[in-house]
Amino acid sequence: MAIRVSEDGKLFTLHTKDGSYQMCVDPCGVLLHLYYGKKIGEDNLHDLIYRTEIGFCGTPSEAGEDRTYSLDYLPQEIPSSGVGDYREDMIRIRHSDGSCAADFRFEGYEIQNGSYKVPGMPALYDTEAETGDTLVITMKERASDIYLRLYYGIFEGQNIITRAARLENQGQDAVILEKMLSCNLDFMFGNYEMVYLAGRHAMERFVERTPVGRAKVEIGSIRGTSSHQYNPAVILCEQGAGEERGSCFGACLVYSGNFTASAQKDQRGLTRMQIGINPVQFRFVLESGEAFDAPQVILSYSDQGFGKLSNQYHEILKEHMCRGEFKHRRRPILINSWEAAYFDINAEKILKLASEAARQGIEMLVLDDGWFGKRDDDNSGLGDWFTNEKKMNGTLAHLSKQIHQMGMQFGLWFEPEMISEDSDLYRTHPEWAFRIPGREPNRGRNQLVLDMSREDVRDYLLERLTEILESAEIEYVKWDMNRSICDVFGHTLPASRSGELYHRYVLGVYDLLERFLKRFPKILLEGCSGGGGRFDAAMLYYSPQIWCSDNTDSVNRLSIQYGTSFFYPISTVGSHVSACPNHQTGRSVPFQTRGAVAMSGNFGYELDLSKISDNEKEQVKEQITLTKKYYDLIHEGTYYRLTAPKEEEYMAWEFVDKEKSHALLTMVMTDAQGNPIPVHTKIRGLAPEKHYSCSLNGQVHCGMTWNNAGLTLNRILEEYESIMIEFSEVEKGKEYE
Ligand code: GLA
Repeated sequence: MAIRVSEDGKLFTLHTKDGSYQMCVDPCGVLLHLYYGKKIGEDNLHDLIYRTEIGFCGTPSEAGEDRTYSLDYLPQEIPSSGVGDYREDMIRIRHSDGSCAADFRFEGYEIQNGSYKVPGMPALYDTEAETGDTLVITMKERASDIYLRLYYGIFEGQNIITRAARLENQGQDAVILEKMLSCNLDFMFGNYEMVYLAGRHAMERFVERTPVGRAKVEIGSIRGTSSHQYNPAVILCEQGAGEERGSCFGACLVYSGNFTASAQKDQRGLTRMQIGINPVQFRFVLESGEAFDAPQVILSYSDQGFGKLSNQYHEILKEHMCRGEFKHRRRPILINSWEAAYFDINAEKILKLASEAARQGIEMLVLDDGWFGKRDDDNSGLGDWFTNEKKMNGTLAHLSKQIHQMGMQFGLWFEPEMISEDSDLYRTHPEWAFRIPGREPNRGRNQLVLDMSREDVRDYLLERLTEILESAEIEYVKWDMNRSICDVFGHTLPASRSGELYHRYVLGVYDLLERFLKRFPKILLEGCSGGGGRFDAAMLYYSPQIWCSDNTDSVNRLSIQYGTSFFYPISTVGSHVSACPNHQTGRSVPFQTRGAVAMSGNFGYELDLSKISDNEKEQVKEQITLTKKYYDLIHEGTYYRLTAPKEEEYMAWEFVDKEKSHALLTMVMTDAQGNPIPVHTKIRGLAPEKHYSCSLNGQVHCGMTWNNAGLTLNRILEEYESIMIEFSEVEKGKEYE
């Protein structure tokens, strides 16, 4: 059993395969955090706390005269607010008398079979093959009738512990929730670094690490989405931890809106790590009887560095977050019209692109932006989800039919959450857009954001999407979202509740996506927000793949996809071969390398096929054959990062299938040098006792040898040249034949 509770019901130990998490209720009723890390027994670790009187650390009344007891230094699950813990709080409540205090004491616990759900938000779910366990601990606020339910979910085999929390106001008066994070983790000992994914539009998810000292290390978003700038997932690792060694603790928030993630040492060296909804622009009113749910956070521990941690996240997200028809089904190889033609599209061009694509074996044509309303550039049309039949030379049904006749499937781009001021929708419903009366709005891409917290807005969008998608044979939808949110103002909420809008927006998006999926369960949804501006665990609940970045330069993509892989499975990454010189960077990279990089994801094309050479067309066919051949290996296999960006003069990564009978190693030369030194690469994950032949040199070695000795390339790679090397299991003894 993954959840162990002591006989007196005061000590809780959660076990996963390799790790343990322990907390206890102390004599004051405070829930103390005792341990998270490598596996331990059932022993009570309360002795790890050494109490001593510390100046300027106050004592709660329950501790009486005992001045060695202070909430200001104890390691806690739910740090109090306003009553004597001067470190970062987790839940901040403003009561009806104006006081701001939150201080929780233990009430009871229960163990539930299976995983828990978070109302209105995504969460890890059970499958037939595997269910989680849940511990629910109830806490009560000391001086008010506010109850806090803490959810701890355990997926033992994957080394995953989740947390979520629900705050219920059972008192008579309304209270204001000014902050409610999902998780607080206090590490009593150790020196840590925070690893996080930072970036910007078209340069997302670069891995950075910062030592955690007494100055707070914090990342977050107040853009309304999880954002390009920071991803809502962080790692706290011991100093010196790396890809294959060291303790690391991941915290991945299942949320797509404003978030914060921080770590800071306290005066005595305890490290407090927190993650949850950003308290900036957050103010939630809880009337008597109302509750607030904080999103789930997925914690994972690895005693063997980032590589193992990432694999644990890949497994759990692939199996227990991604849903639907395409969870394990091969996704179609597509061609997208965006970088092929941008807004300069019409039926004739699209059909030409489709017929070229069909000839090469591409399986789906995706019609990107520009097919609807008055949309010749990005200044108008959003919201008017009606086919521009003049441009499309008739209905979408007609266009789709012609594409299907070529043996191709058909996909369509939408940006449902947005509205152009130059649109019929805006002219009819200006109050549906976020803008503050009496204030000129800030425009992003010359568009405004719809108030997704409104049901009428969501009903309209679902009706438009439904009408379009039912009118034609459409197998795929790209769901885009192309600006950061500001100027929030709700016409339907009272002024006192305006601080709820950012969160209500996110809940609205989830609601619409859920209704959409119920209505169109067979449609493959690809998420997008100017590429990877909303690449988070929560979106994977709705879309099993997300366009990883608007940057299609394969050399930049090496870093972007590398960073993305810290948490997110390769099967969720949208990646396409585009034209050279690349539209974002001007760089030219061989067609083969563009294919090799894009293949480590959901493969497709994003270029004008009529403009590529015959030789490149042949390569398209080869790439499609390879994509199909390696699909399971890449999408279902275990992923290994063999290099980090700029660590070597090349980048290398590898996939090993579940049976450990095949592996695929890809290398790209990123910094070719004169008088080159031979390249030697690591190999990982092969079964030590099995034998494998290497497609590069025909050598057969046992897995142990390959894993430990690696491989020296038998030729020099030129700048941006790439190579894909396969390892295939052979009968034992074959090397002696
Ligand atoms: C965003 C997307 C692109 C493309 C354009 C269309 O930038 O990330 O892939 O769909 O919008 O306007």
